[in-house]
Amino acid sequence: MTAKLPSDFLWGYATASYQIEGSPDVQGRSPSIWDTFSHTPGKIKDGSNGDVATDSYRRWGEDIALLKLSGANSYRFSISWSRIIPQGGRGDLINADAIEHYGVFIETLRKNGIKPVVTLYHWDLPQALHDRYGGWLNKEEIVQDYVNYARTCFRYFGDSVKDWITHNEPWCISVLGYATGAFAPGHKGDTEHWIVAHNLLLAHAYAVKAYRDEFQASQGGQIGITLDCSWQMPYDDSPENVAAAQRSIAFKLGRFADPIYKGHYPKIVKDMIGDRLPEFTEEEISVVKGSSDFFGLNTYTTQLAMEGGDNEIQGNVKNTFTKPDGTQLGKECTSSHLDEHVAKLTTILAQRMCLGYRHILPVSARVTENGFPVKGENTLEVDKAINDTARVDYFEGYTDALLRAVNEDGVPVKGYFAWSILDNFEWADGYDTRFGVTYVDFATQRRTTKSSYDFLKKVWKRRRHSGGAL
Ligand code: NOJ
Repeated sequence: MTAKLPSDFLWGYATASYQIEGSPDVQGRSPSIWDTFSHTPGKIKDGSNGDVATDSYRRWGEDIALLKLSGANSYRFSISWSRIIPQGGRGDLINADAIEHYGVFIETLRKNGIKPVVTLYHWDLPQALHDRYGGWLNKEEIVQDYVNYARTCFRYFGDSVKDWITHNEPWCISVLGYATGAFAPGHKGDTEHWIVAHNLLLAHAYAVKAYRDEFQASQGGQIGITLDCSWQMPYDDSPENVAAAQRSIAFKLGRFADPIYKGHYPKIVKDMIGDRLPEFTEEEISVVKGSSDFFGLNTYTTQLAMEGGDNEIQGNVKNTFTKPDGTQLGKECTSSHLDEHVAKLTTILAQRMCLGYRHILPVSARVTENGFPVKGENTLEVDKAINDTARVDYFEGYTDALLRAVNEDGVPVKGYFAWSILDNFEWADGYDTRFGVTYVDFATQRRTTKSSYDFLKKVWKRRRHSGGAL
């Protein structure tokens, strides 16, 4: 495949602070809600936590070496809020050691030709804010504290960082954290997650406003949000399943994307949720609407959508991987039916999700995460695990499909970040599920690159050497 990609195309890997850093109490860091949650018995599948993870707060030099050798031109990572402002709030102390640490890290990336793409919030809320006023549930306080934290990062790092992402996957933060209880802080119920989602949107939007009003002109960067959605393909052509697929996207993606790109919640969501869905004031919605310079999408797979069921969070839509003829849409892997054969489909269709918003804002899209957990990889010895042919197939399908989306469908994709450069702490799955292109022996911290690392390296190299062709 020799098709062209835009010359400003970002390619690389993504990680998140709690999943890789470890060093929970080093240099003044305070606990986040994920420290508390992972240390609560029964919350993490293998009983583990992120106390060490890939030890990247100390071994960051090794991470940068791996990235450089991989040919990545950018690296998406997140900053830990409770390192920068350990007690979290406005008026609380800013931690000079953490500022120094991330500052050196960012400069070292840049010296190595790797553009930093920074996520401000990848789920690790300072525990102090959760204890002080209920964290994301308290609109008046959290929005201001988040903006204060974001502003601190813009001030200290914005001369070097030109790509900011406010939140990673607000659906997971709100639904898994406040409806199913699978993620921190582990609340369950059918109302809180709508409030949290609303407050996340406001915090995002007011941080973007602060960036645009106070920093963008002098620093010249871009800022946006990363949403997540699997492509929802109708189970069959019946009108009710076609409608179910659309409704499923409204409940997963539209509940965030519509306010940001269109200025209101999707009608179907409003109709079904009624009074439990908070309302924006006129002033708030004027800040939320248009508050992303790009369309950031994490997308891993395609699911079939079928009318029915009573799962309100999904808009009363059922998902399956079994097609009407009884065959599977994708082969089963660790945590879901992610499969290399659906990668092409996922990409092209997922990019159309971005196109759905393109007439509203001239946004460009970025695939901010995409990756594959090989089933059973955690049970293999290192020499077998590094031969990850299924992951190679997946990435092959995906990068190929990405080019088609750009070249044939005219989708303005400007970035692709594979998840992840290293095996790491996979939230409620602990270390059982591995997504890395580099194998980590968690007992020794020894890193060994897998076949998928070599594969993606070749992909990026070919692109460089043929002047814009992948
Ligand atoms: C979603 C999240 O952003 C990331 O933290 C997680 O590890 C991967 N996708 C894989 O599940």
